[in-house]
Amino acid sequence: MSGTQSLNGAGPANGGGRGVLSEEIKEQIRGLYPKYPTKRAITLPALHLVHDTYRQVSVEAIREIAELLDLHPSEVHDTMTFYQFFRDEKAPLGKHRVWVCRSISCMLRGGEELLAGLCDKLHVKPGDTTSDGAVTLEFAECLGACEGAPCMLIDEDCHMNMDQAKATQVLSQLA
Ligand code: FES
Repeated sequence: MSGTQSLNGAGPANGGGRGVLSEEIKEQIRGLYPKYPTKRAITLPALHLVHDTYRQVSVEAIREIAELLDLHPSEVHDTMTFYQFFRDEKAPLGKHRVWVCRSISCMLRGGEELLAGLCDKLHVKPGDTTSDGAVTLEFAECLGACEGAPCMLIDEDCHMNMDQAKATQVLSQLA
């Protein structure tokens, strides 16, 4: 991420610039303090809170999380990038995140074709977001539902035994 340089050279996390995190989100992060043994242990939950809300974790958001947790921004950035789950401001998530499993059980039962078909339908490549911002389509490794291969995860919901028609129908029902 190109923000690494600015993270390292940015000085204190509370540099006085405009914040990107709402007071509500900051309050939710502060509300986690008593539930964890250290502020450092809140890094991942805080990243999830911010990511779920803003569909990305920007460099400025990293700084603000770091300030709340008494960490250096680079520590928050390291955690964020380690998991390869979080999006930054260069590639924010769409409203819905759709994962299509490509691991062995799903692959053998048409997972790759399912993903390719959805890419065609949505006019995106894996990892991209539709032009209207509605859907980010990604491939996933085993979703833990091999008995229902091929399967997809749409936001928090796993959909099993999918085919192109079922996937299209489920996607059309997304609000
Ligand atoms: S291989 Fe797809 S859920 Fe396990």
